[in-house]
Amino acid sequence: MNIHTFENEQELNEAGAGIITGLVQMQPGAVLGLATGGTPVGIYEELVKAYKKGRVSFKKSTTFNLDEYVGLPEDHVESYHAYMKQHLFDHIDIPAGQIHIPDGNAPDLIEECKRYNKELEKAKQIDLQILGLGHNGHIGFNEPDHSLVSGTHLVELKQETREANARFFASIDEVPTHALTMGVGTILKAKSILLVVRGEDKAEIVHRALTGPIQTEIPATLLQTHPHLVVLLDAAAGRYF
Ligand code: GLP
Repeated sequence: MNIHTFENEQELNEAGAGIITGLVQMQPGAVLGLATGGTPVGIYEELVKAYKKGRVSFKKSTTFNLDEYVGLPEDHVESYHAYMKQHLFDHIDIPAGQIHIPDGNAPDLIEECKRYNKELEKAKQIDLQILGLGHNGHIGFNEPDHSLVSGTHLVELKQETREANARFFASIDEVPTHALTMGVGTILKAKSILLVVRGEDKAEIVHRALTGPIQTEIPATLLQTHPHLVVLLDAAAGRYF
């Protein structure tokens, strides 16, 4: 595991974007696993800048998003479909057919999970999976539990996760109760993983996740088993390292 701590948020963003553009430059057909939430926004901004400067093209790349809320219309500003368009896809040259995001409005959510797993199987392996970290140690929407699910599945969100994400909605009542998420098996199958964590409020959980006992009650501890894990922390999140 490679842990880098940055004093400066901009340097962190540039480092994160640099890892992604470096991969896509070398391997234009790379399969990228993408995350949402507040954490990767600055990295996506740097990716868009690199694209606009002609340094990278995503024409041949494929993307798989980690997760999506259940029951939020795709054009709702807080859906992960809308987020990805706003922060990345509307500004780069990736063809729409190469973008994959679970459909949280599918009439049969279990069938939708199966469909997403099939798409992932067709792609064989994610080359680089970008991850943020939940305050309770969740990755994607794989919440703490006595056991974890390997493939894409339907989850009921923990109250603490809904509270953490309520900042993006008018009130907590508007935060969906369920989501579809890629499973930890798929995440761990990625060739490389880029975990990005920011802020004092995540300093303790990221330290426990990367140095504590491996346990399903902190899903991110499983990342310790991955052979190619790069961690980017800002100074606040990295204070215990
Ligand atoms: C969200 C997402 C995760 C994200 C995490 C942290 O609920 N499902 O993919 O990594 O929680 O979010 P943030 O970056 O906003 O702190």
